[in-house]
Amino acid sequence: MKTTANRDLKASQTDTPIIWAVGGGKGGVGKSIVSILLALSLARRGHSTILVDADLGAANLHTLMGIKTPVRTLNDFLNRKYRQLRQICIKTEVDNLGLICGASEVLTMANLQFAQKTKIFKSIQTLPARHVVLDLGAGASFNVLDFFLIAHFPIVVLTSQPVSIQNAYAFVRNAVYRRLTRTVSQKPSVLELIKAAMDPKNENQLRTIQELLAAVENASGSKYSSILRESVGNIKPLLVTNMIRHENEQKAARIIQMVAQKYLTVQARDLGSIKWDAAVAGAVSEMVPINKLPRQTPALQNANEIIAKTLTGDEGAPSN
Ligand SMILES: Nc1ncnc2c1ncn2[C@@H]1O[C@H](COP(=O)(O)OP(=O)(O)O)[C@@H](O)[C@H]1O
Ligand SMILES: [Mg+2]
Repeated sequence: MKTTANRDLKASQTDTPIIWAVGGGKGGVGKSIVSILLALSLARRGHSTILVDADLGAANLHTLMGIKTPVRTLNDFLNRKYRQLRQICIKTEVDNLGLICGASEVLTMANLQFAQKTKIFKSIQTLPARHVVLDLGAGASFNVLDFFLIAHFPIVVLTSQPVSIQNAYAFVRNAVYRRLTRTVSQKPSVLELIKAAMDPKNENQLRTIQELLAAVENASGSKYSSILRESVGNIKPLLVTNMIRHENEQKAARIIQMVAQKYLTVQARDLGSIKWDAAVAGAVSEMVPINKLPRQTPALQNANEIIAKTLTGDEGAPSN
């Protein structure tokens, strides 16, 4: 039976999995490749891992993993053909690695209904694996942000291109405002202020989270500003710069760290970078599964370093 991933995935059934969410920029920065590289690295370290193609608009993880027509996809779960996500998880050729394929029909995260999202959230918690890696796909719709915000390891993928840096920062900013909005969803006066601050050109001169919190404190008292401060403080985005060709491109993450700290009071952690790897690009264009790449290929080595750094909580040397 191929209804669940490898048998050892079942071993950790009683624990809730550690969730990694890979999101960030627009299409093409490498979210899917990074999701696969990280999942491969986790699985090869012996951790039971399930990779989930949550890119509902452009599901392609299965193709990148060498599976032409998935037997089951998220569609089957959303259409209630299967009750649990574990039932649509398929085995891969990699030990310890299961795959949940994205919906093949046109369905975007943006139009996923609240009940469907809750259903996916709940079912992810019961997946029989130690790690679950979600490829969130492009965009910053509320649903994408909500998946990002539930992750233990919320990863933002960027490249060193200025527009990608802007997109990645905008994604973090949107995530922060989404969290703030949900935290005080019952308090219309505070919501109004948050809504105003979301427009970068707002007339209230609310440019930073500090300014917003001061305005909230003024209008509604310190109770709400402290609740909001705490909820922002809990957002710890992790940055991965992909497709770098020169060492100095690693500075891209540093820029986001500085801006996120200044305007959002968010501490983003730089997990490091993944090199532009001719073997990865070649595999994609020749339809060779990414899991067939030699283990010493640079992008995989970089993914191993990122996994090691994340799992040990090693902050690495401070970069100036
Ligand atoms: N580290 C890398 N080295 C070389 N090429 C890469 C790398 N990461 C991504 N690519 C290339 O970029 C393309 C887009 O990557 P993909 O993961 O599909 O982006 P996204 O999921 O963000 O839309 C891939 O098809 C591949 O050709
Ligand atoms: Mg993708």
